[in-house]
Amino acid sequence: MFDPAVFASRREAYLKALGPDAVAIVRSLPERLRNGDAYHPFRQHSDVLYLTGFVEPDATLVLRPGAETEKVVMFVRPRDPEMETWDGKRAGLEGAKERYGADAAYPAAELRTRLGDLICNVDELHYALGLDDDMDLMVAATLARLRKTEKKGKRPPRAVVDPRVHLHELRLHKRPEELRALATASKITTEAHLAAMHAGRPGAFEHELEAVINYTFRRRGGAGPGYATIVGAGENATILHYIANSCAIADGDLVLVDAGCEYDHYTADITRTWPASGTFTPAQRDVYDLVLDTQKTAVALARPGATIDEIHDHCVRRLTEGMIRLGLLAGTVDDRIADAAYKKFYMHGTSHWLGLDVHDVGAYTRGGVARPLEPGMVITVEPGLYVPADAEGVPDRLRGIGIRIEDDVVITTGGHEVLTASCPKEVDDVERACR
Ligand code: GLY
Ligand code: MN
Ligand code: MN
Repeated sequence: MFDPAVFASRREAYLKALGPDAVAIVRSLPERLRNGDAYHPFRQHSDVLYLTGFVEPDATLVLRPGAETEKVVMFVRPRDPEMETWDGKRAGLEGAKERYGADAAYPAAELRTRLGDLICNVDELHYALGLDDDMDLMVAATLARLRKTEKKGKRPPRAVVDPRVHLHELRLHKRPEELRALATASKITTEAHLAAMHAGRPGAFEHELEAVINYTFRRRGGAGPGYATIVGAGENATILHYIANSCAIADGDLVLVDAGCEYDHYTADITRTWPASGTFTPAQRDVYDLVLDTQKTAVALARPGATIDEIHDHCVRRLTEGMIRLGLLAGTVDDRIADAAYKKFYMHGTSHWLGLDVHDVGAYTRGGVARPLEPGMVITVEPGLYVPADAEGVPDRLRGIGIRIEDDVVITTGGHEVLTASCPKEVDDVERACR
C-alpha cells in the first residue's frame, strides 16, 4: 500500500488535467455472484485504486476541479458493526476523509440524490460508460433531470468524455513507486516460474504447477495471480488462453507457463516455455531458438521513439522467415507477410501496456498511427509460435509445439530495462532450471 501522499499527488494531477470546466465520476464495478450465493473475491476497479487506494466495494469518487471546497467527494459504505462482523472492517465516512483524502464523504446510498448537484454546470463529465448498466442508468437519469432544471440554474454537462482521455494517460506513464511495485511483482513471478520449472516433470499434472505458482505468489506477499495462470503441456501450449490446467505432463512435452503475480495491485506478466524432461528435442529446439532470437531482438528495439507496431512488425518478419526455413510456410517472406499466412502460427500481438491491469489502459495510437514509446511506459514483449497438432501441410516433427517467451519492459530515457530479466530464457539456463 502506497503512502497517502502518492494518491493525493495522482488526484492533483488528474484534477489539473481535467481543468475547471469538467468533473469526473470514478466508480467500483459491482460485486459478482460466482454461483449460488457465493461471490467472486472482490477486486477494486483499477481507476479507483489508482486515485485512492480504496479497496472496498460500492465506492464512488466524484472529482470536481472547479469546486471551491468539495473537490474530492467519496461515496462509501458507512460503518455498520453488524455487517462488519460478517464481512470485515469498513473505512466508513470518517475513514474516507481521514485515510483516503476525501474532502467530503457520503453514504453510498445517497449517490443517486446527490449526484446532480455534484456534476452540474460544467462542460464535460468524464465517466466510463458501458461498464455497469445500473450506474449508466443513474448517470443518464441524472443528466435527464438536469436538462429540466437549467432555468433554475443547474444544467447538465454538455459532453460525456471517456476516461481514456486524461485518467488513462496518467496511468500509462508510470511513476517510480509504480515501477517499484512492478519490479517486486516481477521478482516474485520469476521465483514462481523457477519453482514450476523445478517441480515440472513427466507425470506431474498441469494443475500441480499452477498450485506451485499461485502458492509462491501468496507466500511472498502478492495478492495472487493478476490473471488466470496458464499451464499448458504438449499441444495445450498451442491454445492461447488455456486455463483448464487439467492434464498430465507427458515425457517429451514442452510446458508453456504464462503467469504473473499481482503485488500492490500491479501485475507482472511472464511467459516461459520449457522441456518437462529437462532437455529440448531437436525439433523443439529449432522453434525455441527462433522464438528466443525473435524475442531478444524485439526487446532490443524498445526505446523512446520506437513504437509497439515496429516491435510487432519486426517479430512478424523474423518469425515468418523462420516459418519458411522450418517448412511451415512456403514462398517468400514478403508474400507470406502480405497474405498474412504467418497468422496461422503467430496470431496475436507482440506487446501491450502493463500496470494495474495486465492489459493496461492507455491509447495505442495517436491520429490513427502507433504512438512513440516514452520513458515510464511499461510494455510486454511476447512473440510466440504455435503449431496446432492437426495443422495441414506442416512437418510432423513440429506438430503440437507451442512456444511463447514474454518479458516485461520499462522504457527508460536511455532505452529500456527488462524487469523480468532474471527469469531464465537462454536454452542452457532453462534446461538447468528444469533438471
Ligand atoms: N497473460 C496475458 C497476456 O500475455 O497478454
Ligand atoms: Mn502479456
Ligand atoms: Mn502473458
